[in-house]
Amino acid sequence: MKVCIPAEINTKELRVAATPKTVLRLKKQGFDVFVEKDAGLRSNFSNADFKESGASILDSAKEIYKTADIILKVLAPSEAEIEMMHKGQVMLSYLWPAQHPDLLEKLSKKGVNAIAMDAIPRISRAQKMDVLSSMANIAGYRSVIESANYFGRFLNGQITAAGKVDPAKVLVIGAGVAGLAAIGTANSLGAIVRAFDTRMEVEEQIQSMGAQFLKVEIEEDGATDSGYSKVMSKEFIEAEMALFKEQAKEIDIIITTAQIPGRKAPTLILKEHVAVMKPGSVIVDLAASTGGNCELTQDDKVITTDNGVIIVGKLSQLPAQASQLYGNNLCHLLDDMGKAENFKIDMEDDIVSRAMVTYDGAINWPAKPLPVSPQKKNVEVEEVDDSPTPEDIAKKKAKSTLFSLIGIGIFLLLLGKVAPSDFMQHFTVFVLSIFIGWQVIWNVSHALHTPLMAVTNAISGIIVIGGLLQVQTHMSNPMTIIAFVAILVASINIVGGFFVTHRMLKMFKK
Ligand code: NAI
Repeated sequence: MKVCIPAEINTKELRVAATPKTVLRLKKQGFDVFVEKDAGLRSNFSNADFKESGASILDSAKEIYKTADIILKVLAPSEAEIEMMHKGQVMLSYLWPAQHPDLLEKLSKKGVNAIAMDAIPRISRAQKMDVLSSMANIAGYRSVIESANYFGRFLNGQITAAGKVDPAKVLVIGAGVAGLAAIGTANSLGAIVRAFDTRMEVEEQIQSMGAQFLKVEIEEDGATDSGYSKVMSKEFIEAEMALFKEQAKEIDIIITTAQIPGRKAPTLILKEHVAVMKPGSVIVDLAASTGGNCELTQDDKVITTDNGVIIVGKLSQLPAQASQLYGNNLCHLLDDMGKAENFKIDMEDDIVSRAMVTYDGAINWPAKPLPVSPQKKNVEVEEVDDSPTPEDIAKKKAKSTLFSLIGIGIFLLLLGKVAPSDFMQHFTVFVLSIFIGWQVIWNVSHALHTPLMAVTNAISGIIVIGGLLQVQTHMSNPMTIIAFVAILVASINIVGGFFVTHRMLKMFKK
């Protein structure tokens, strides 16, 4: 089967649907690969690079479309490109089917089986094919890097000989894929990060990425079974905007990513919010192409307001990496469709049936939705929870401790009747130290295990000294044998402690 990659005719698009690395992968899948001459130039991939990976270079788009069984593209095809396609061809590209019904009409008329990469359902199995996620991840990262560039100050706090520098404060609005990537990047650069989302289920994700989750007083959750946010009530949006106005006074960088699929992006940052921001502050609006989250955003432009706030409505792409990830997503889908040998359009498959927007001369859109979000479940029957509560567990624990103490007491009493008093004194100390040591270590939280290890190493050191003092010249002496065992066990603890600490320190080294 022949897979063909045309050059993108829109010169603003820097990506290409295959890279030399993904060509290698396509070849391994059994496809013959053809790339249009200079298709990869804007992503820094030369014709020679593609040839070296085993692709054949074709001179014109005409030849590409004539040769192809499968066409891999980035942007939706133009009318002229559709004209060059033929019946039965499979085409994979962005299509935005909800916004472009006329395009679906043309593709179906031509008999092209078109897969909209932006319509891949967002289920776990499809994560590796999800171009929206891989591109949103790049955009989130890039939004922080570019905002830092426009901001013109450190993002991290510093204490230098010349004085203290406060860390920048970053607010991320919308904690989907792009928002979480932005939070992670801003946090890793040392900024103080706050984030807001309408879906309460993202609170933990925001916190685990190192940001503070901001909330409004209104009890309304934006989460839906589709995984995306619903359109929020007027009251919620007003409360949200009031929160942003408060934040805008002290925040240095705002990154907005709020979107509702198939609709204009919600307007959340008004002129009055921008007016209270400090000069030099930056707003990066990742929703610029769908109307913008900021009232003043201009799509594809960077502007500076009268009060010196920079509003970024366009990001430069990372074409080489974006092409690589996009190409990988395509390869994963082709893998799923049976590679070259068993290539099949399976309209029973959850993914293919939803992303294949035109099939066999007919339009297959809108697709039946598949739920995304695993967190939200509608539990209709109230389940009786018979698992023990923390109080029950604590009570049970206290009871068993009491019983074991009584047991130990009785045992010591009985032993005291027969054993010499000298032995009893040492034995009591031994039993108590085991008991107290056990209780202390068991109750230490995981976060404190490293300092605890330092303490146990110190104790092991004392044991080694004690053992050495007890060692006698005769190896057969029971005291020597016990001392030897004590030294051995304590040494294992010390060496093990150093080994674990060394491994932990290595984790923090870059
Ligand atoms: P998106 O780009 O559609 O929206 C971005 C964020 O904006 C969302 O978190 C949304 O809740 C938020 N938002 C909407 N209105 C807002 C408002 N008024 N104020 C503040 N925030 C607002 O979302 P994205 O990043 O495409 O992901 C959405 C969902 O899809 C998530 O649940 C994610 O976990 C899920 N997902 C699942 C995947 C899979 O399983 N294959 C892959 C990627 C995402």
